[in-house]
Amino acid sequence: MNISSSVEIAAKYIQEGKLVAFPTETVYGLGANAFNPLAVAKIFELKERPSFDPLIVHIAEIHQLEKLVLSADERVYKLAEKFWPGPLTMVLPKSDIVPDIVTSGLPTVGIRMPGNEISLELIRKSNCPIAAPSANKFGRISPTTAAHVKKQLPNVDYILEGGKTTVGIESTIIKLTDNGFQILRSGIITQDELETIIPVDRNSIIEKLSAPGMLKSHYSPRKKLLIADNDKLKIDKSMAGLISFSGKLENDYLKVIRVSERKDLKDYAVNMFDAMHTFEDDSEIEIIIAEPVCETGIGKAIMDRLRKAEFNWRQV
Ligand code: TXA
Ligand code: MG
Repeated sequence: MNISSSVEIAAKYIQEGKLVAFPTETVYGLGANAFNPLAVAKIFELKERPSFDPLIVHIAEIHQLEKLVLSADERVYKLAEKFWPGPLTMVLPKSDIVPDIVTSGLPTVGIRMPGNEISLELIRKSNCPIAAPSANKFGRISPTTAAHVKKQLPNVDYILEGGKTTVGIESTIIKLTDNGFQILRSGIITQDELETIIPVDRNSIIEKLSAPGMLKSHYSPRKKLLIADNDKLKIDKSMAGLISFSGKLENDYLKVIRVSERKDLKDYAVNMFDAMHTFEDDSEIEIIIAEPVCETGIGKAIMDRLRKAEFNWRQV
């Protein structure tokens, strides 16, 4: 089936209050009509996601933003102009039209315009904004292919195929304050890039958010994953898979996935979750080791995901 007819089908599903997994440029999302609370409730059920964890609302046109928020100042439009469509989510005061279930009762809503033609077409054809978390079971590895979605959510009403995602990690989430912006979740759009538009707010204290984007554990593979940053790390490499970046650690590992031949951090982001899925599915691999990178620029987002993937396993 060609893309345009599968988007038509997917849009029909959205209009009927069903769930559609769809590709964005970051990861696959599990979408529902953001204005239909019953449909949104099914997202939480299928993902086994706690109700306190709010969803991002995806739009295709800037005029859709105006309905969803109480007010948007000039800074929002400047950011939108520079980064949308693209992997930036802005958390803004929500209007009454946004059902409470979408925002987990918070007075704010996270909004983004995804930078992927299939998702934009889906939103346009559905004729509504689409609320969507990543299309994985709660706490598990995010999906960057339709196969990853099928593995974790085999009962989803429809999966829109769109190949492998091109960014590979979730959007940068920011909150605007009176003094500038604060990053709630790091991503491929870095603080430096955002600062070219508005200043970072180093002073306001962001109230504690009960949202797993901020929990210590997340993105967890079913197999033990450790970051190779510990000299005392004693593991049997003959049963281990290495997620390799520099190429320097590869000796003696049973299997190695080199995430970037040209040693570019963007490739690490693109291939990281896919590598975790591959090793998770490989019966010969007992433990996954991931190579750490310098925590600047995109490296910050990569290390954030690796630490969260590792968190539960550090204790075992
Ligand atoms: O790239 C992405 O952002 C992907 C694709 C599908 O768009 N979506 C995604 O959604 O990563 P999810 O649900 O896995 O992560 C969304 C996170 C929540 O866990 C929460 O931390 C934050 O976004 N969030 C959403 N609405 C918020 C709000 N009103 N205030 C604070 N944080 C919010
Ligand atoms: Mg997620």
